[in-house]
Amino acid sequence: MNVLLLAGGLGTRLRPMTENMPKPMAPILNRPWLEHLILHLKEQGVHRFVIALKHHPEKIKNHFGDGRRLGVSIQYAMEEKLLGTAGAIKNAEPLLDDQFIAMNADIVHDIELKPLLDFHRSHGGKVTIGLTEVEDPSAYGVVEQDDTGRILRFVEKPRLDEAPSRRINAGIYVMEKNVLAVIPSDREVSIERETFPLLIRENMGVFGTTIQGYWADMGTKERYRQVHWDLLNGSGRIRIPGQAQDQGIWIGKGCKIGAGVLLVPPVLIGDHVKIGARAVIGPHVVLGDKCSIGPNVRLSETILWNGCRVNEGAYLNNCIFGYGLELGPRHILHEAVMNRLGVMQA
Ligand code: GTP
Repeated sequence: MNVLLLAGGLGTRLRPMTENMPKPMAPILNRPWLEHLILHLKEQGVHRFVIALKHHPEKIKNHFGDGRRLGVSIQYAMEEKLLGTAGAIKNAEPLLDDQFIAMNADIVHDIELKPLLDFHRSHGGKVTIGLTEVEDPSAYGVVEQDDTGRILRFVEKPRLDEAPSRRINAGIYVMEKNVLAVIPSDREVSIERETFPLLIRENMGVFGTTIQGYWADMGTKERYRQVHWDLLNGSGRIRIPGQAQDQGIWIGKGCKIGAGVLLVPPVLIGDHVKIGARAVIGPHVVLGDKCSIGPNVRLSETILWNGCRVNEGAYLNNCIFGYGLELGPRHILHEAVMNRLGVMQA
């Protein structure tokens, strides 16, 4: 069976980082998340992928090509206009196997597919929705299920005391292709709001099972940062690049770290990074490859993508900088989220 990765959304909630790239290409631990995801699925035996594209499709196509570099095969389904999560699946229909997996490509997770597939094959329904449990379901669509796992309904944004469960749609589905007949092909369709409720009403066999492991939506700036801190603090089985030092510090190759630099864990430093004397880096800092940090700089709770330069004495807290940005000396920035249009890779 092949896997369809939905990667065409506008990523409006993560702007400006997604102004000039699809959200799943945002780096997580210094590597585009989509690449982590494909490699994670490949480890579980998936070798054929379809990626559904709309927003900045060239960024994904140029990066992955036909997939050979990662040892997989990748085909692309292009949309001329935004079709929504179900419309994108419908548009990819000619490229999909009779049974396939569809996944939101902006969810950071390390799930095992086998239990999901075993469950799907055991119930004989048309769709299995991977579910995840959250502490507070009041911001989500929560599922109500019977004892067999059949989904009876979604309750949108329930009050905590009225929620039928704490299980929500994790954005990972096993589907029978013939179910796509219910999706119109000429307009935007949301799988969460339209297709699943329709299939449930029509009693087409929509089941849900809870997935195990790490799961996080990286769709806002706060969540994008939090995913990094979770992973650096040991949640999730996602490979952290670089040489692990004591106490949550990872350093890439070819780095130059000046005298008196203090690294406060957790900190991830990419390849060929320069850090000037007496800088204080951390806690919770990720520096992309080829970043250059001046002397006496102070960085905390901050993510810099590849090729950023922070000059002497600057102070950044709770910031995200896109590829190749530069900050002048002694600037102080708190919660700045910045990107430079047109720059993809430093
Ligand atoms: P926001 O604008 O911030 O809501 O982000 P989004 O629409 O990019 O993401 P959302 O969480 O709503 O969608 C979940 C996944 O589906 C993401 O990986 C999106 O890239 C993808 N997606 C959403 N809409 C479309 C679409 O119209 N076409 C395609 N191909 N993918 C989509």
